[in-house]
Amino acid sequence: MQLVGLASRWSGRVFRSALTVLFLVALADPPRAQDAGQGGGEAAVERGSYIFQAAGCLGCHSDKKGGGQALAGGRALVTPFGTFYTPNITPDPRTGIGAWREQDFIAALRHGTSPEGVAYYPAFPYPSYSGMTDADLRDLFAYLMAQPPVTQQNRAHELGFPYNLRFTLRIWQALFFEPAVFEPEPGQDADWNRGAYLVRHLGHCGECHSPRGFLGAVDSAQELAGNPAGPEGAKVPNLSPGPGGLSDWSESDIAYALKTGITPDGDFLSDAMGEVIDNTTSRLTDADLAAISKYLKGLPPRSTP
Ligand code: HEC
Ligand code: HEC
Repeated sequence: MQLVGLASRWSGRVFRSALTVLFLVALADPPRAQDAGQGGGEAAVERGSYIFQAAGCLGCHSDKKGGGQALAGGRALVTPFGTFYTPNITPDPRTGIGAWREQDFIAALRHGTSPEGVAYYPAFPYPSYSGMTDADLRDLFAYLMAQPPVTQQNRAHELGFPYNLRFTLRIWQALFFEPAVFEPEPGQDADWNRGAYLVRHLGHCGECHSPRGFLGAVDSAQELAGNPAGPEGAKVPNLSPGPGGLSDWSESDIAYALKTGITPDGDFLSDAMGEVIDNTTSRLTDADLAAISKYLKGLPPRSTP
């Protein structure tokens, strides 16, 4: 009797520790049910290639002017806080992100946190990418890992005090950043929601077209109202149907401009927007361009502050 009791207590304990081990294994390596369902491997790389274009990762992470290789970083981004040099995001294990696990990548884009637990500067537009779905982040990671590795050391940013103190970014994040995956708005149709996802998250249009407030945080209450001081100090136009915005543009005018760079007045969009058109919007499907145009035309009219 006693022996049976002891045995069952023991087996209970063994069972519980086996459960604990299983639980820890599950935590360490989360099941990738979604991948299995959607088809990982080549199909993921293919889907990731479209996400990569829609999200415009190439421009910032390649020093095209300096003759650098694709995604090896080193591009200078001049801001009021100092100059940032983008890091190498090729799969080189030593100087790039080749040693990263999928969950490291998701943490970087969704939470703005490095594998070492350090916060990123919002010059990396993770506040926009944070809304990307898990499925899109996984596909994007698969695509990046399939690119040629380039060995190139990262260059340190040149920032003024106190912006050079990385730990202060945790305070910035606490004040201005709330990670949240995009949720479709039930009152809107599928096209509008697709447009919202592309504009707010993948295309991160607000990073340039929305005004910024205190400490460079994007003012989401003034979404796409235009930015008097955009990248390199240039003025960035209002995309809402408000004054100086897109009220005279039809949805097809917008889609056409995003595809070709030509405005309804026959002007060519250049500079920062020229790059966005080359790397991103000219590569989107007509359906996605129509969705973006619909979303922009549906914005409340705002005037540039
Ligand atoms: C507007 C320019 C810009 C764009 C667009 C951009 N990045 Fe970055 N990215 C940066 C900067 C600047 C950093 C460095 C941030 C820091 O040091 O805190 C960075 C950091 C990163 C890191 C961290 C690398 C490391 O070594 O810790 C990853 C990963 C990354 N970006 C991936 C991407 C991906 C994927 C995309 C497209 C979805 C993208 N970035 C788009 C500017 C950009
Ligand atoms: C890196 C900064 C940047 C990003 C990101 C960006 N834009 Fe622009 N955009 C600009 C600038 C600068 C101009 C003005 C270009 C010019 O006048 O030649 C502009 C102009 C435009 C115009 C023409 C407006 C007008 O009144 O002439 C449209 C439309 C537009 N952008 C849409 C978008 C959309 C949609 C996205 C997101 C997919 C986006 N932009 C992302 C910087 C940016």
